Amino acid sequence: MPLPTQTLLAETQKRIVSPRTTPPSAPTTHAAVPPLAPGALPGLGHAAALLRDPLGFLGSLARHGGVVRIRLGPRTVCVVTDARLVHTLLVALAHDCPRGAVQDTLKTAFGDGLLMSEGQAHRDRRRIIQPAFGADRMAGYLSVMHQVTEERAGRWRPGQVLDVAKEMNHLALEIVTRSLFGARLSEDATLAFHRALPDLVKGQIVQSLYPHPAFARLPLPVNRRFDAAVRVLNRVVDQAVNGRAGTARTERRGGTLPALLRAATDPATGRPLTEADVRSEAITMFGAGTETVSTTLTWLLDELLRHPEVEARVLAELDEHLPAGTTPTPEALARLTYTRSVTQEVVRLHAPNAFLMRTAQVPVNLGPYRIPAGTELLYSLTALHRDPVRYDEPLSFRPERWQDGGGLGRPSFLPFGAGKHKCIGEAFAWAELTVAAAAILRRWRPVAVPGARAREVVWTTVQAHGLRVRLAPRADALTAAHGTA
Ligand code: HEM
Repeated sequence: MPLPTQTLLAETQKRIVSPRTTPPSAPTTHAAVPPLAPGALPGLGHAAALLRDPLGFLGSLARHGGVVRIRLGPRTVCVVTDARLVHTLLVALAHDCPRGAVQDTLKTAFGDGLLMSEGQAHRDRRRIIQPAFGADRMAGYLSVMHQVTEERAGRWRPGQVLDVAKEMNHLALEIVTRSLFGARLSEDATLAFHRALPDLVKGQIVQSLYPHPAFARLPLPVNRRFDAAVRVLNRVVDQAVNGRAGTARTERRGGTLPALLRAATDPATGRPLTEADVRSEAITMFGAGTETVSTTLTWLLDELLRHPEVEARVLAELDEHLPAGTTPTPEALARLTYTRSVTQEVVRLHAPNAFLMRTAQVPVNLGPYRIPAGTELLYSLTALHRDPVRYDEPLSFRPERWQDGGGLGRPSFLPFGAGKHKCIGEAFAWAELTVAAAAILRRWRPVAVPGARAREVVWTTVQAHGLRVRLAPRADALTAAHGTA
């Protein structure tokens, strides 16, 4: 299978910047069958096109309708291409359209964590976990995010060449472990985590495409690697939730996510949650809260390298509202309005969730379309945010599009999803992007290594591979600039 699929921005642009023939959710009197995308090949359907260039292919579907059928081998999947219809799917139809095959593979491996559960079980668990993401926790998390980034960036050396994605992966994992779990992972565990993750994601994609779930139990290489990755990740998570001496040092146990879970009772049984439940939620946070952030941070640095004038404005704003040496507070972050536009634009252009799914359990109407029971519905937040109907010059990085009233309330901006499964870590993530970027940029001026820019690699998330930068100390850079002025 020709994965991973690499999609360069320019390639994508060619394909998706073409106007739709009809407005996707134009009212009709009779619910219609979604149109079939052209270009299905005998036997394969659209699988080859999807695998060859996922974002280009998904982006190209919008011109055929707000919901478009595609064939993946023997399966027919409906792709929702219009942001308003995705919102309807996630909010109004949430009860009838629970999560789909991609998440189910994780459920088998890791149990009923927040990312995998549905219905009452999901509501109960979300209520238990929510306090860990409450506003009253944020000041403490900001201080940990700042400290972790300072420590890591403090170990870098002038002239060092950094593999940015790798470094951001380590950073994001450490931030989640120390802030939510009050623990530190050993270096071995950190490396094992990052080595295991690609096999987990590959297995997740391939298994979700199997014609029958029993295929996941066959001794195929992809299944074996998936199972091995699950074992590794469970071991790593054990360290975070138990903080065993010699492997992980516990910094603060009270008030952590595991402490919160262990103090709770399961409303369904009236009994305390089991250790398996605690582990399941921990793996959920590691899975959902590390690669999403690290990828976005990598794109943020890449975009700043491409747009030095934007970087200069960000640094000026940081100087004004978050002077060097101060620990960030929620109030200080709220004053960084330009920086917020920059992070929003990065999250729009590089929304990490390339594929998410729901399954219609009963027949539903989605805009003008009739969706039969059992239909799998796929949507790509990345493709939605590059829709030329919703965003002018969608592939241009333009932070100013978020200023002067254009803001988070836009119905077509859904990087954290919507409805009952909306990202629980959204506020945490926005803060982390700003705090980590600020700590890095104050200390270092990254200079792109020629030929080593970020390129998109699409799995279930859109990853940023290949960006390497040479580090120059920021102070030297400033002195040099003043000296030559
Ligand atoms: C840039 C960073 C992030 C992005 C773009 C992002 C995006 C998303 C999206 C789109 C969903 C909804 C998935 C669906 O509807 O099926 C989601 C759910 C979730 N996210 Fe995030 N996320 C980010 C960071 C984080 C962080 C930092 C954490 C935790 C530390 C986190 C934890 C979760 C969890 C637990 C869920 C499942 C919520 C539920 O079903 O109730 N995410 N995220």
